Amino acid sequence: MSQKPFLTDVQTLRKRARQHIDEGAVTAGYEADRETVLKLLNDSLATEIVCVLRYRRHHFMAKGPASKSIADEFLVHSNEEQGHADQIAERIVQLGGEPNFAPDGLVSRSHAEYVEGTSLEDMIKEDLVAERIAIDSYREIIQYLGEKDPTTRRMMEGILAVEEEHADDMADLLGGMSAKT
Ligand SMILES: [Fe+2]
Ligand SMILES: [Fe+2]
Repeated sequence: MSQKPFLTDVQTLRKRARQHIDEGAVTAGYEADRETVLKLLNDSLATEIVCVLRYRRHHFMAKGPASKSIADEFLVHSNEEQGHADQIAERIVQLGGEPNFAPDGLVSRSHAEYVEGTSLEDMIKEDLVAERIAIDSYREIIQYLGEKDPTTRRMMEGILAVEEEHADDMADLLGGMSAKT
């Protein structure tokens, strides 16, 4: 033990792992405040679900000569947001919580908003705004998690990177549209 001052010895690790086995992936070494992390993750789950629904609505409602490829892109984003929702729900369960899929209160739990938008340009703008909100709130969550829960942090970093791509895609579409008018 004295040769490895930074590592917990195997016996202690094994003993700890056997205690509270019902806590699943949450071990005694888990340093974050679990309740807070679960709350943050459920809010993020609501954000993702709202984004799934908003992009899907936009996919079906996109009209006009330039709309086909944009409608396709909305669908791609909607499906990616669904993937994020699934990742987050899975992590919530790993941490011993329950993913909240209740439609009641969904919008108030979500960081981003559900805005239908009338024109194609409106839709893209609203999607860009929603992505920017998600980016800011996920960045804060990542900072909060820091070294306390690196697994959740890495997951959120992966999701954040995709939201940044989404925002970039929407900004490009918006730029393309204003160039034409
Ligand atoms: Fe997402
Ligand atoms: Fe996104």
